[in-house]
Amino acid sequence: METLVVDHPLVAHKLTVLRDVNTDSPTFRRLADELVTLLAYEATRQVRTTEVTVQTPVAAAQGVRLAQPYPLVVPILRAGLGMLDGMTRLLPTAEVGFLGMIRNESTLKAETYATRLPDDLSGRQVYVVDPMLATGGTLAAAIEFLFDRGADDVTALCLLAAPEGIAHMDEVFAGTSKPIRLVTAALDERLNEQGYIVPGLGDAGDRLYG
Ligand code: PRP
Repeated sequence: METLVVDHPLVAHKLTVLRDVNTDSPTFRRLADELVTLLAYEATRQVRTTEVTVQTPVAAAQGVRLAQPYPLVVPILRAGLGMLDGMTRLLPTAEVGFLGMIRNESTLKAETYATRLPDDLSGRQVYVVDPMLATGGTLAAAIEFLFDRGADDVTALCLLAAPEGIAHMDEVFAGTSKPIRLVTAALDERLNEQGYIVPGLGDAGDRLYG
């Protein structure tokens, strides 16, 4: 998996406020929304385009438009919903699919409780959004699901990632030739005994939605 940690002072500033235990839910939601838009700018560098010519008031101009089929954005419920608007603001023509997954807090295994995705994802670029990459179980299961439906190119946007989660992804997808990218605002130190990212920001779902 190709990993990009976005190094930008605005990202660092917003992430610092997001981490702060004294930041309330409305502020947390707004900052998560702003951060995903900044991450999306980097995450969409490989978005597919086609060359077009448009007529300006002065002359013909060469340019590009997003290629069809348009990208699919997949928030992983529930916390990923807090990143959806920021993503679709930048990719307004994207289709949106949903994956409901919850990590069993005893076993730390991901369990899928809802899927609402196009049946055939052949040739689609997919952007998965989920604030936290902790053990990596959730993201790995989500990407396996998308590959099974034919997706051939997946970029994940996470606000925070743990080294253990990245190692897990590399292990699970060692044999795949399909591109998998991760764009994150920070790579934190480690996971604690409860599987929480340290220093992290706590439980993103709870901080977004209570
Ligand atoms: C969190 C987070 C990820 C997952 C990460 O969701 O949003 O989906 O845990 O953990 P992992 O990398 O160890 O699998 P959670 O299961 O708490 O569900 P929620 O979004 O409904 O709060």
